[in-house]
Amino acid sequence: MTDSNKMWGGRFAAGPDAIMEAINASIGFDQRLAAQDIEGSRAHAAMLAACNIITDKDAEAIREGLLTVLSEIEGGTFQFSTALEDIHMNVEARLTELIGAPAGRLHTARSRNDQVALDFRLWVRDQCDAAISGISALISKLLTQAEKGADMVMPGFTHLQSAQPVTWGHHMMAYVEMLGRDRSRFQDARARMNESPLGAAALAGTSFPIDRDMTAKALRFDRPMANSLDAVADRDFALEFLGASTITAMHLSRLAEELVIWSSAQFRFVALSDKFSTGSSIMPQKKNPDAAELIRAKIGRIMGAQVGLLTVMKGLPLTYSKDMQEDKEQVFDAADSLMLALAAMTGMMGDLKPNAENLANAAGAGFATATDLADWLVRKLDLPFREAHHITGSLVKVAEDKGVDLSDLTLEEMRKVHEGITKDVFGVLTPQASVASRTSYGGTSPTQVHTQIARWRAKL
Ligand code: ARG
Repeated sequence: MTDSNKMWGGRFAAGPDAIMEAINASIGFDQRLAAQDIEGSRAHAAMLAACNIITDKDAEAIREGLLTVLSEIEGGTFQFSTALEDIHMNVEARLTELIGAPAGRLHTARSRNDQVALDFRLWVRDQCDAAISGISALISKLLTQAEKGADMVMPGFTHLQSAQPVTWGHHMMAYVEMLGRDRSRFQDARARMNESPLGAAALAGTSFPIDRDMTAKALRFDRPMANSLDAVADRDFALEFLGASTITAMHLSRLAEELVIWSSAQFRFVALSDKFSTGSSIMPQKKNPDAAELIRAKIGRIMGAQVGLLTVMKGLPLTYSKDMQEDKEQVFDAADSLMLALAAMTGMMGDLKPNAENLANAAGAGFATATDLADWLVRKLDLPFREAHHITGSLVKVAEDKGVDLSDLTLEEMRKVHEGITKDVFGVLTPQASVASRTSYGGTSPTQVHTQIARWRAKL
C-alpha cells in the first residue's frame, strides 16, 4: 500500500494495490499527449484569468511553469510517475513542485474528462493533417509516374486475367483517384472534429463564468461543442480517423499487392529500387519486395484498431467510463502505421521503374484486343454487338488452336469465320491502337490520361 493519491486522495485512507496501479495507469502511453495537454492547460489558464476566475499573477505563474514542464518533457529530463496515473496528473504534480500554490488553481472549472477529450482530439486533429500531407506527397509521385507512362501500354486485368490493354498512366491515375477520396475523408473528418470539448468539465458544465469561445479559438477550433455530456463521452473523432485510415490502408494494400505481383520473375512489369527491397541470406538471386509486403500487411493493425475502439465504445453508458482510457494506444499505433506505410509507398513510387517492353508484350498477349475486334465488326459491318461478340469468340478459338495471337491470323483465316472482314481490321488489333481509341471521358487513351493529370496538378 502506498500513500493515498495526492490528486484525488481526500476521501481515501490508503493508496491502491500495486496491481490496481498497473491496470489503472495510462502514463506509459498517454505521455504522447504531453504537448497537447500543456497547450490545453495554457489556453484554460489564460481564459480563467481573462474571466477573473483566477488572478493574472497566478495565470502568469502557471504559464511559466507549464513552459518549463514542456521543456523538461521535450528534453527527456521529466520523471514520469506511474503512481500519478496519467499525463494530466503528472504534468500538474510537476507544476505544483515548480510553482507551488497557484498550480492548484489550474484545475478550476475543468475535469480530466474534458481535459483528456481535448488532448486526444488535438492529437488526432494533427494526425489528420499529417495524413493529408502524406497522401498528397504520394499522389504527387503517382502523377509523375502517370506522366512518364501516359502512353505506355500494359494489360488491364479483371479476375487477374488479361482483359483489355490500358496505359501505365491510367493505372497510376486510378490510385490517384482513390487516394484523392482518402484525402478528402481526412479533410471531412477533421472539419467535423474541430469543435472544442474544453469547458464541459466533468460532464455537466461548470458554475464558473468561463468563456468557452475563448479557449476554442485559442486552440484553433471552429467552436465549442454544444453538449457537455457529448463532449466528454464522444470518441467519434478517433473512430472517423480510424475509418479513413482503414480505407487508405486498404488502398495502399492493393497497390502494394500489385507491386509484389509485378516485381515477380513471372511478371517483370516493374523493377523496385534497391532502397526498398531486401535480399535473401540463402538465395543469391532474390530481391524481395519487403516494403510492399509490409505495407500490404499494415491494414491488419489499422483495421484492428478501428474494430477495437468500436468494441470499447459500444454499450458504454454516458458519459465517461474508464473503459475510454483504452481508446489511445490503438489509435497511436494505427496512426504510426499509416504514416509509415504512406512514407514507404511514396519512396517506392518515386523510385519504381516500369518495364515498358515487358508491359507492352504482356498488353498484346491473352487476346487482349478481342473487344476492339468486336467493336470493329459493329462499326464497320454494322453487326449487332452480341453477334460481333460471337464471331470474335470464334476467331479467338482459331487463334488459340493455332497457338498465335489475333493479329497473327491471316486475312483468309479471318474471312473463313466472317467474310465481311477486311485488312483494315489489323489496324485495331495492336494494344497501342486499342488504348488510343478509348477516348471516352475517364477512358485509358493517353489524351484522357493527360487531361486527368492536368486536373490533378491544378488541384494539388
Ligand atoms: N487517463 C484517463 C483517460 O485516459 C484520463 C481521464 C480520467 N478521468 C477520470 N474520471 N478518471 O481516460
